[in-house]
Formats: sequence, structure tokens, C-alpha cells
Amino acid sequence: MSNARDRVVIKLSGSLFDLDSIVDTITPYASMLREMSSIMQPIIIAGGGDEARRYIDAARALGADESSLDEIGIEISRLNATLLVYAIGLDLAYPSIPRNLEEVSIASATGRIVVAGGLHPGQSTNATSALIAERVNAKLFINATDVEGIYTADPRMHREARLLKRVSTKELLSMLGRERFDAGTYELMDIVALKIIERSKIPTRVVKADPKIIKDAIHGYDVGTEIVVGE
Ligand code: UTP
Repeated sequence: MSNARDRVVIKLSGSLFDLDSIVDTITPYASMLREMSSIMQPIIIAGGGDEARRYIDAARALGADESSLDEIGIEISRLNATLLVYAIGLDLAYPSIPRNLEEVSIASATGRIVVAGGLHPGQSTNATSALIAERVNAKLFINATDVEGIYTADPRMHREARLLKRVSTKELLSMLGRERFDAGTYELMDIVALKIIERSKIPTRVVKADPKIIKDAIHGYDVGTEIVVGE
């Protein structure tokens, strides 16, 4: 395997790691990543999901401070990442979960499929994924989430919401500023993630978490929402 393949950073929504169905859910992702790794190097970030939220809620009720709660979320996302490493297989996946950007660089230099969880307290996995995409000089950053892409409003609450095929970082930042997104949609891309995408001009797409759609995004098809840098 060559070490010079283009790198594609893929954030996998924490919702895929629901423990009740995790084996059936992540196996097709692992197969797709194995297949795609012959043409590019996947760098994956696993989200924390409901399990993280449940641990965080319990620790908050027990009086833990916010940065400690973030660390719990990070630990759970790392456990999710570990399961994905096993699903991919140790012949192609880097065997340990990087804990900071330097470790991400070291892992990526091997040319293997790298799977990370969260890195630092105070960030979402979306912001962390953008930072990782910046660090590894990704050709593409795919945010695979539980909706089809970025909508004009939260599609789960507003039936008139329209999917945006293309939206600029500037428009998204001003939408976030005007709080036109409520919680669910806001999380698709937060301000930190957008600022990183903007400063390093990272080609970015928000798509539905589905192995086939992610594959289409890797092949350059116009799926989900394309985020363009600038106006
Ligand atoms: P997320 O809420 O970002 O994961 O991380 P998720 O479940 O993938 O989110 P969605 O549903 O796809 O949007 C879980 C928690 O872990 C902490 C935060 O507390 C976050 O809420 N975290 C994660 C960090 O503090 N730093 C990180 O780099 C990542």
C-alpha cells in the first residue's frame, strides 16, 4: 500500500454507534472503508452518540465539571473508534486510537486507515474533524450525519425545510449567528469547524451517513450539501 494516496477525512455520526445494533450497523461501513482504501486513505472520526450523552448526563448529575464531562464524551468516542478498528481489521487499520493531532499525523504517515475519536475538551467532534482534515491536508472532508445534508431549518421539526445543495462558509456562519438553526441542525457544523474549513480552504460535504452515499461523495458525486469557502 502506497503512503501517498489522497486523504479523505470522514466524521461518522455518533448515532451509528448505538450499542444495541452496533455490529450490524458498522460492518457495512468497515467493508466500504476497506474497499475505498485502495484508492485513497480514509481518516475516520467516530462520534460519541447517545452512549456519550448518557454517561455525561449521569456524571453531570453527580457534580462533575464541564471539562470532565467532555473528557467522558471523548473516552466514549474512542471506544466507538476502537470498535470500528476491529470491524475494519488490523491488517488495514492503524491499531491505536490517536489522542492528539501529532498522533494523528504519525498514524496517517503509515498509510493505514486511521480511526480517531475526540481529541480535546471544549470541542465537538465536528470541530475536531475539521482540525484533523487541516492537519493531514485532506483532499476532502465528509461529515456523515443523520440527515441528508444542511437544510434551511431543522427538517425533523420544519416540514417546509429545504435541502441546500451548496452553501458557503460565510452564509453558514451568518445563519449560525442569527440562530436560525436550532440545536439538532446547529451541531452539523459549528463555528469552530467552519472557521477551520474557511482558513484552510478544505473541500467539505455534509451527507447522510450511509456507506453508499459516502462512497459517492468520495468519488466526487454531488451528494448532500457542498460547503464552499467564501461568499
Ligand atoms: P459529539 O457530540 O461531538 O459526538 O461528541 P456525536 O455523537 O457524533 O455528535 P453528533 O450527534 O454526530 O453531532 C460527544 C461529546 O464528547 C465531547 C463533547 O462533550 C461532546 O459533546 N468531545 C468530543 C470533546 O470534548 N472533544 C472532542 O474532540 C470530541
